[in-house]
Amino acid sequence: MTPTFRTSRPGSAADPSRPHVILVGLPGSGKSTVGRQVAAQLGRTFLDFDLEIERREGKSISGIFAEQGEAYFRARELALTKELQQVGNMILAPGGGWITNPDVVGLLRPPGRLIYLRVQPGTALTRLGTRRALRPLLSRPDPGAELERLYEQRRAAYETADHVVNAELYSLQRVIEKVMELASSPA
Ligand code: S3P
Repeated sequence: MTPTFRTSRPGSAADPSRPHVILVGLPGSGKSTVGRQVAAQLGRTFLDFDLEIERREGKSISGIFAEQGEAYFRARELALTKELQQVGNMILAPGGGWITNPDVVGLLRPPGRLIYLRVQPGTALTRLGTRRALRPLLSRPDPGAELERLYEQRRAAYETADHVVNAELYSLQRVIEKVMELASSPA
């Protein structure tokens, strides 16, 4: 059965012969904001993993972590990733921890292309502001230290991306432009 997703363009064709572009990076690196804008400007479909998982589960990411635990959430990410193998041409924003399982990443790449929005944990934390309360892994006494720890654990995996955009240095508009260039260039 063809899977259904609630994307930015419901009902639009998601051509399976064209690869997905997948934005990766820490929480607060701008994956969803950038992805949504890039997709809108390129006339492509955007999917935010966390929103899709929340819709399917009927509860927030924090609720899922609290009631079913992180392993259950990671299994939902895996299931969604498998379904996305059947479609293509989307701009995807998985949560920051999606990169940690190479088998999950390997479901979409190749042919999908990964773009890493690189920011330092301190910058990511500032950009998240009060929205960090929506991230269960950061709703801890010292979210700054937690984000540092996640960054150290994940940075090598993030750096395996096909492209790196310095989202620390550039303005949001410039990051969007860079990602648009990369997303529309041939592999
Ligand atoms: C997570 C990041 C979150 C969300 C969940 C776990 C992580 O997504 O998937 O809270 O492990 O870094 P964002 O990167 O969009 O905050």
